[in-house]
Amino acid sequence: MALCLTNVRSTWRRAIPLSAIYSHSKAMCFSPAEFHAISPNLEFSPDCDEAMKERLRGNMKVHEDFINAEEEKNLLEELELKFKRSRYQYDHWDDAIHGYRETEKPTWNEVNNNVINRLRNFAFSTTTMQHVHVLDLAENGHIKPHLDSIKFCGNTISGISLLSPSIMRLIHIQRPEIFVKALLPRRSLYIMKDIARYDFNHEILSNNESFFRGEKVTKTRRISVICRSPPPSS
Ligand code: OGA
Ligand code: MN
Repeated sequence: MALCLTNVRSTWRRAIPLSAIYSHSKAMCFSPAEFHAISPNLEFSPDCDEAMKERLRGNMKVHEDFINAEEEKNLLEELELKFKRSRYQYDHWDDAIHGYRETEKPTWNEVNNNVINRLRNFAFSTTTMQHVHVLDLAENGHIKPHLDSIKFCGNTISGISLLSPSIMRLIHIQRPEIFVKALLPRRSLYIMKDIARYDFNHEILSNNESFFRGEKVTKTRRISVICRSPPPSS
């Protein structure tokens, strides 16, 4: 089944003003070094208690260097051909994404297919949708907080980041003071599932908000190669 990109995201409308969230992020507590070592790519808000941290660690994982530079280059070569004639989209205020182009890719050349299969076998215990979603975010682009539609996507979303690091922020839908930032390095893989996928909305921060543990993370153009599990009924 094709993914129906126009339907996959439902933009989350915030119940509380953004300023409340930003004031938290500036006051982010630093935990001891040994604590960071457990999940070095996650930064929790001060209101995130130990039990929630533990659940998030199990449901939002980042694996650094999932692909090497050669594999990244091969993927980019195939994707540049695919994107050659399409333009970045900025226009619509209600879109979940600003400054992007995207495609669904059903097939890959043999070399890249091996990488996609490695992703599938590594991140999913079930089958995945045949079409791989590729999202090319411009340097000045960002993804606003949203949930992937439960009608078009199952419990696991996993993506490889090409070209640039970025910050994905997950904010608890019922309790927005609970949030976590995930540092997604270039060539890493993230796996978001279960509570991280259903109880939190997710977003990719714009370059001017892109900080992790107080350090600026410069986001340039970023391409993500994303697989999703199918919704339960399909
Ligand atoms: C999406 C999305 C994340 C990413 O397209 O719904 O959340 O890694 N993408 O690009
Ligand atoms: Mn999404």
